[in-house]
Amino acid sequence: MALLSVSDLSISFGGLRAVSNLNLELNKNDLAGLIGPNGAGKTTAFNMLTGVYLPTEGDIKLDGKSLLGLKPYQINHCGVARTFQNIRLFGDLSVIDNLKIAYHSHAKYGVWGAICRLPGFYSGEKEMYEKSMELLKIFKLEHKWEELANNLPYGEQRRLEIARAMATQPRLLLLDEPAAGMNPQETHELMEMIHWIRDQFDLTILLIEHDMSLVMGVCEKIYVLDYGQIIAQGTPEEIKNNRRVIEAYLGEEAS
Ligand SMILES: Nc1ncnc2c1ncn2[C@@H]1O[C@H](COP(=O)(O)OP(=O)(O)OP(=O)(O)O)[C@@H](O)[C@H]1O
Ligand SMILES: [Mg+2]
Repeated sequence: MALLSVSDLSISFGGLRAVSNLNLELNKNDLAGLIGPNGAGKTTAFNMLTGVYLPTEGDIKLDGKSLLGLKPYQINHCGVARTFQNIRLFGDLSVIDNLKIAYHSHAKYGVWGAICRLPGFYSGEKEMYEKSMELLKIFKLEHKWEELANNLPYGEQRRLEIARAMATQPRLLLLDEPAAGMNPQETHELMEMIHWIRDQFDLTILLIEHDMSLVMGVCEKIYVLDYGQIIAQGTPEEIKNNRRVIEAYLGEEAS
């Protein structure tokens, strides 16, 4: 059975059908890309997958169970985590606190454990600290652990956001333009990290990216959205040679 199965997913805003009959299937450990010109509906698709928008039609199933109607935090608890096109960190908190907050949403001790400082609280806090530091190492941010998130350069903020998503221990990770604003060297390193975490954490990843060559280099399977509809899907090689895809992108360049 597919890990994620999206069937005929649609949403309209007033008269605009931003996503129309989206069908998408991800198997466990897929590293897939969702590409398309500006305004194609990519972020809107992520917003439906994560419960930010309720679809007008269609269904989203994770491991065969429908996610429709669940709130974003409930979907996160089911194992879906995401990052945002516009970075959303707690800027006035330290790097490590950004991760610990994410771990807290899955903490094993309750409010009383924390208030009364029961033994479970201390072991839980220690475990969270250690796991947070491990993630920071993976994303090459361990030396910045005490820094305020706002003070990090842009590329590091993007990596911290991925680390934070990872702290919720997802099975499915959705990345909305993770390399936006990064230089080529940072982008290259990030793509290696994405590959590595997929393998290491047994993850399934769907990433939105504008840069075709980048997506072709990292993704094994690609979906192309244009005006809210899937116009092509396949391997990078198939997508590269697809006439409708070439037209959609040339059309964008020409405008
Ligand atoms: N909350 C909303 N209300 C009204 N229209 C919306 C809303 N969210 C998205 N849209 C519209 O839906 C369409 C798709 O937007 P979306 O942000 O999903 O595109 P995108 O593919 O992510 O584009 P980009 O590459 O620029 O990020 C756009 O026309 C956008 O204006
Ligand atoms: Mg977008």
